[in-house]
Amino acid sequence: MGAISRRALLQWMILLMIVCIGRVSGKMLRVGGSSQGWNPDVNYTEWASKQYFYVGLWLYFGYDRYYYNVLEVNETSYETCNDRDPITNVTRGAGRDVFNLTEAKTYYFLSSGGYCWHGMKLAVPVHQFPLPPPVAAPSPSSSTKSSSTSSSPSIILPAALVLAVTWTINSLFSFR
Ligand SMILES: *[C@@H]1O[C@H](CO)[C@@H](O)[C@H](O)[C@H]1NC(C)=O
Ligand SMILES: *[C@@H]1O[C@H](CO)[C@@H](O)[C@H](O)[C@H]1NC(C)=O
Ligand SMILES: *[C@@H]1O[C@H](CO)[C@@H](O)[C@H](O)[C@H]1NC(C)=O
Ligand SMILES: *[C@@H]1O[C@H](CO)[C@@H](O)[C@H](O)[C@H]1NC(C)=O
Repeated sequence: MGAISRRALLQWMILLMIVCIGRVSGKMLRVGGSSQGWNPDVNYTEWASKQYFYVGLWLYFGYDRYYYNVLEVNETSYETCNDRDPITNVTRGAGRDVFNLTEAKTYYFLSSGGYCWHGMKLAVPVHQFPLPPPVAAPSPSSSTKSSSTSSSPSIILPAALVLAVTWTINSLFSFR
């Protein structure tokens, strides 16, 4: 009996965790991914090419605050690693900065202190909408429908994960 309630508790905790992660990852994107973060010697051109950026998405920069920072600059400054007179000083001091992508345009970021020369420069092409339009675009008045369809993958994936995790926990406990 004790084992059953412990198992149920564990399942609920994992389910809660997955729901929370799902919510955050839907609107916030960690620059460089969880393993690299915002650091030198990372090819952010390559990283960015594998992402989809859209209006309303937040970027999260996680880094060592004693060495690096985050500045939004224009294209010229990005190309030349010029950290003078940035458009926005994104740096808040804790090494955990967020930036709201509010326009469909290309944003440019870099770290000063010479680290731009070591790869800490990022160009972010922002699209207007969260997901590419569906291949078979139905009627012109599908704006309300598209928002409901775009939310379905973020529900299906955690649901599948919960099933997988539940199954794993069940099989683990049944062998004890
Ligand atoms: C980063 O990756 C891009 C695309 O894969 C490549 O064109 C570029 O040369 C790389 N930059 C560096 C500094 O390695
Ligand atoms: C972030 O950007 C989105 C899209 O433009 C906007 O709806 C939202 O209000 C912004 N949030 C903040 C806190 O500025
Ligand atoms: C880019 O920003 C730099 C630094 O603020 C400035 O000197 C330069 O004139 C800007 N270039 C363009 C094309 O706006
Ligand atoms: C950006 O802001 C941080 C913290 O507010 C400050 O320490 C830093 O000097 C600023 N950098 C620039 C280039 O303005």
